[in-house]
Amino acid sequence: MRGISFWFFMTAVVYVTLGMIWGIVMAATGDHRLAAAHAHLNLVGWVTLALFGIYYHLVPQAGEHVLAKLHFAVATAGVVLIVPGIAMALSGAGELLAKVGSVLTLASMLLFAVVVFRSRKTADVPEGRTVEQGLVQSA
Ligand code: HEM
Repeated sequence: MRGISFWFFMTAVVYVTLGMIWGIVMAATGDHRLAAAHAHLNLVGWVTLALFGIYYHLVPQAGEHVLAKLHFAVATAGVVLIVPGIAMALSGAGELLAKVGSVLTLASMLLFAVVVFRSRKTADVPEGRTVEQGLVQSA
C-alpha cells in the first residue's frame, strides 16, 4: 500500500486508536456524555477513511489525481473539526465547529463521488497501463 491509500489508512488508524482510548476512558469513568463524539471519531475517522483508503488501493489511478489529495485534505479537516465540534456542542459550548466540520465531512464525500465517477473507466485497468491499453486488453 502506498500513496494516498497509505495516508488514508495511517490517519484512520490514529483516529481509531484515539477513539478506543476515549471509549475505555468513558467506560472506566462511567461518563458517557461525549459518546456521540467518540462514535463520530470512530465511524467517520476510522470506518469512512479506511473505506476511502481501500478504494484508492483498489483503483490506484484515482489516487494519482490532484482531486484525491484534495479529498484527503478535506476529509482530514472534517474529522479534526467535527469531533471536537460535537464534544463542544454536547457540552453547551456552541455549535459552530460542529457545523463547519459537518459541511467539510459532507464535502469530502461529494469529492469522493466525483473521484469515483471520474474513475469509472479506469477502475478495471491494471496498474501501469493506460485506460486505452486496459480497455483494449479486456475487449
Ligand atoms: C476500545 C474500544 C471501544 C470502547 C472501550 C468503546 C466504548 C464506548 C462507550 C463506553 C460508549 C458509550 C455507550 C453508551 O453511552 O451507551 C460507546 C458508544 C459508542 N461507540 Fe464505542 N467504544 C470503542 C470502540 C468503538 C468503535 C471502533 C466504534 C465504531 C467503529 C464505536 C462506535 C460507538 C458508537 C456508534 C457508540 C454510540 C454513541 C451514542 O450512543 O451516541 N466504538 N463506546
